[in-house]
Amino acid sequence: MKKIIVGNWKSNKDVKAVENWFSVFVEEVKDVDWQQVEVALAPPFPLLMMVQAAIDHSGLPLKLAVQDLSPFPAGAYTGAVSVANLRELNVKYAIVGHSERRRYFHEEHGEVGRKVGLALDAKIIPVVCVDKDYVAKQAVAINGELLSKCVVAYEPLSAIGTGNNEDVGTVKRYIKEIKVVFGDVPVIYGGSVKADNVGEYLLVSDGALPGGASLDPKKFADLINKAVIKP
Ligand code: PGA
Repeated sequence: MKKIIVGNWKSNKDVKAVENWFSVFVEEVKDVDWQQVEVALAPPFPLLMMVQAAIDHSGLPLKLAVQDLSPFPAGAYTGAVSVANLRELNVKYAIVGHSERRRYFHEEHGEVGRKVGLALDAKIIPVVCVDKDYVAKQAVAINGELLSKCVVAYEPLSAIGTGNNEDVGTVKRYIKEIKVVFGDVPVIYGGSVKADNVGEYLLVSDGALPGGASLDPKKFADLINKAVIKP
């Protein structure tokens, strides 16, 4: 199975920055074996269409992801982006329950569970973010029949945006636990993943969710180059 790498830009970048990012990135990934890795970009919502156009223009097999979803369907929910708004936009993955959503926007397991259902109804694969202390609690808030359709991101809070990436042995242990709870789903690791450590994480996981390291096109390309095994 291909490793999954989702670059989460969070609330960074604007139109100009996207142009610059692609002009550098395209040059740096010429030798990547795309049979080994699936790379998705999660830009802020207003840049989604622009990023899709840039992907099409580049000819690269990159996928589109969103960083969040409304827990409600289309309707009177000011400020929220529903799956209905994303129709035809070619979104493959939706990150749901990121720790920054939980921390700054007070999202709870139930809300994340509803997002999982809405995403899957819209044929978008949810990337459910969990930390070690609430793997089971999050899972019970998701319709049991849907668990096996999720990708899970193991994201220890202490490692996110801190440079303190978690040791690989611990990541391996929690990924095993997550697979007991969710079933044999792809589990990726996020938390200060960079070019110089991605290789170790991919030995024990199904992919990675880099934030900071996806912002700089050279660093992200370097990370992807390190993620694939050269013949
Ligand atoms: P980071 O972010 O790579 O900057 O630590 C990871 C994440 O938030 O998923």
